[in-house]
Amino acid sequence: MAHISPIVKQATPVVVEKAEGCWILGTDGHRYLDLTSGIAVTSTGHCHPRVVAAAQEQITKVIHAQMATVMHKPMLQLTEKLGEVLPEGLDSVFYANSGAEAVDAALRLARMATGRPNIVAFQGAFHGRSVGAASLTTASTKFRTGFAPLMGGVVVAPFPYAYRLGMSEDEAVAFALQELDFYFQTISAPNDTAAFIIEPVQGDGGYIPTPWAFLKGLEERARKHNILLILDEVQAGIGRTGKFWGHQHAGIKPDIITIAKGIASGFPISAIAASTELMSKALPGSQGGTYGGNAVAAAAAIATLSVIEDEDLVANAAARGEQLQSGLKRLQTKYPVIGDVRGIGLMQAMEFTDHDGEADPATAAAVQQAAIEEKLLLLTCGPRANVIRVIPPLIVSPEEIELGLAAIGRALETAATK
Ligand SMILES: Cc1ncc(COP(=O)(O)O)c(C=O)c1O
Repeated sequence: MAHISPIVKQATPVVVEKAEGCWILGTDGHRYLDLTSGIAVTSTGHCHPRVVAAAQEQITKVIHAQMATVMHKPMLQLTEKLGEVLPEGLDSVFYANSGAEAVDAALRLARMATGRPNIVAFQGAFHGRSVGAASLTTASTKFRTGFAPLMGGVVVAPFPYAYRLGMSEDEAVAFALQELDFYFQTISAPNDTAAFIIEPVQGDGGYIPTPWAFLKGLEERARKHNILLILDEVQAGIGRTGKFWGHQHAGIKPDIITIAKGIASGFPISAIAASTELMSKALPGSQGGTYGGNAVAAAAAIATLSVIEDEDLVANAAARGEQLQSGLKRLQTKYPVIGDVRGIGLMQAMEFTDHDGEADPATAAAVQQAAIEEKLLLLTCGPRANVIRVIPPLIVSPEEIELGLAAIGRALETAATK
């Protein structure tokens, strides 16, 4: 009998029967509050009626219309709709299927457009699992180990992770920028450097908002040395941080952004956006793919963007994020094993550390497992697996946040008394 490969490591034993909004009905008959959003994907919640209707309608018209062969209306309309929210000047869009593919597309474009070989990524980043994206990923050695050699031309520079470094945010930013400048002198000369790639909030690496001053520092260096600035908005984009794009908090202008996850509420579609001028520097036909910009996924993406606009979900992400963070900070006062509470919008996290300030993955795992008993789904993250991230859909209500916080409180109590 065939079975699912153990390569996939599952965080919960839940098998989904049906899902709606923030809730999952398991085949075990239990209702679970889903504060994972399928890793930041179900932005409008599970099976939003408008997303379901758009996909159902599209499926009767055309399912697959290969983009290099023919164009289809959903892709054209999605591009128009995205144009309303894309950062200024990024008016050219290329579609793929997954976040990793978007990252690969961005790095391919950056190298081709600049003629330079190196990409600077930052320690702790997660950019995906294809060989290209994994080569930029240092969120854990588990994403890199055992299949070397990875792609060449990748330089990993320090990230200002203030809590781990035991520094203030300002100190961490000064340290990381100083190191980056030294990297230009010792490892990758600016003339060899095609791009910086960075997440507005490090995701799998531990839910660490990138300090805005660091992003500004990167932008300055990018402009000074004609290095492209790639913002990986795969997890933080589409309203999740309380602004439409995570990098907008820093007031910077990227050259390329990557988009996936929340854009289509669960349908696999991703994209990169850049200026037409930049995209025109790549060889026509150098990028493509059989399924990129699939018609049904594109229809679902249009509906998702409309729901986000009509239901004012970016503002909801900001407000519910504040509510969630205050609740987690209240829990921190009761449970000192929560060493740090951090996040922005609906990307919030608790980092667990012991009395000596050492990472405490055992407690993080115990809380995540106890939460399942409370019918609450949470995920861990971080290189040391000592962070629990809370990622509600953007439609989450104040009542659902309170239910989630109460369940986290009970899970903490269970883990603390074990
Ligand atoms: C910031 C970021 N980039 C890229 C990816 C890769 O996306 P995918 O899993 O769709 O390939 C992820 C996935 O978690 C991500 O968080």
